[in-house]
Amino acid sequence: MKKHNYSAGPSILPQEVFEKASKAILDFNDSGLSILEISHRSKDFVAVMEEARSLALELLGLQGKGYQALFLQGGASTAFLMAPYNLMKENGKAAYLDSGTWATAAIKEAKLFGETVIVGSSKEENYNHIPKGYEIPSDADYFHCTSNNTIFGTQMKEFPATNIPVVCDMSSDIFSRDLDFSKFDLIYAGAQKNMGPAGTTLVVIKEEILEKNGRTIPSMLDYAKHIKGESMYNTPPVFAVYVSLLTLQWIKSKGGVAAIEKLNDAKADLLYTEIDRNPLFKGAAAVEDRSKMNVTFLLNNADHTATFDALWKEAGISGLPGHRSVGGYRASIYNAMPIESVQVLVDVMKALESKV
Ligand SMILES: Cc1ncc(COP(=O)(O)O)c(C=O)c1O
Repeated sequence: MKKHNYSAGPSILPQEVFEKASKAILDFNDSGLSILEISHRSKDFVAVMEEARSLALELLGLQGKGYQALFLQGGASTAFLMAPYNLMKENGKAAYLDSGTWATAAIKEAKLFGETVIVGSSKEENYNHIPKGYEIPSDADYFHCTSNNTIFGTQMKEFPATNIPVVCDMSSDIFSRDLDFSKFDLIYAGAQKNMGPAGTTLVVIKEEILEKNGRTIPSMLDYAKHIKGESMYNTPPVFAVYVSLLTLQWIKSKGGVAAIEKLNDAKADLLYTEIDRNPLFKGAAAVEDRSKMNVTFLLNNADHTATFDALWKEAGISGLPGHRSVGGYRASIYNAMPIESVQVLVDVMKALESKV
């Protein structure tokens, strides 16, 4: 039986994407070859890469606005260091918002390149909210933030207006909501949450901000080189890019990001309403900053843990335990999660209430 997969990443993808991807493993485009064995320079794969790059920009409303999309390797963790390498000047400085574990990891890398100013942090409250009321120094080379904090279940609802380039780690909410993406100069996202399998990272970058910091950058870490190589400077992760393309096509077929956002709003509303109604549970994150992708919640009485765990496992739910730094539960309700699966979880929460 197919499970209701609440895993934070790698995570659920649309069923039709799994089906198309498995067919392409056996025979890609009726070519008599598997997607796993064709050359990345073949006409068929070049077409995949071109469509994936262009569809990513189209879905974000950035087509023809001076942006480039790249499918790179090394995960979002490599983008943590590529951002400062490409944007921070020698003896320059960068401004960071510390909203969780991944933001902290990005800050650690930036410190290797120059002065790193932490403009706001919610560390003291175990990152249960998004820091607010901070000021961004206008002489910094860029401002970096994390739009959705996968571990803590918080999400930025507003982004600061600033005159310096804005860099955003959107790993866990890319393509989940409609924003004015032209406010961002560099967006990166590991594919393995809302876009595809692990193995590729989407980078969307405004070309004009590159090649200005005066550093000599090793080729594989140089965004400009990857743009010149049309995202094929070296052998790209062929299968991960192909499955990402299938997911982007699925998003488009659903009506694009704005239509997906409506579905995501309904799923999040269903689950948070139950968390707030059910006396056995409480949300982990500040209400105004609640994530619509990773819903973190706790049992008010830990004695009910074994009963609750047995109930959700019986219902075919997988991947619900929270990250060790928050505890409790985390329901990752990415784009591909159907509302019917969220209803199964809500029913289990109600079943616990009538049982104890
Ligand atoms: C928001 C965020 N940023 C970065 C990462 C790290 O991504 P990767 O494992 O692709 O390096 C994760 C992984 O969960 C994440 O959730």
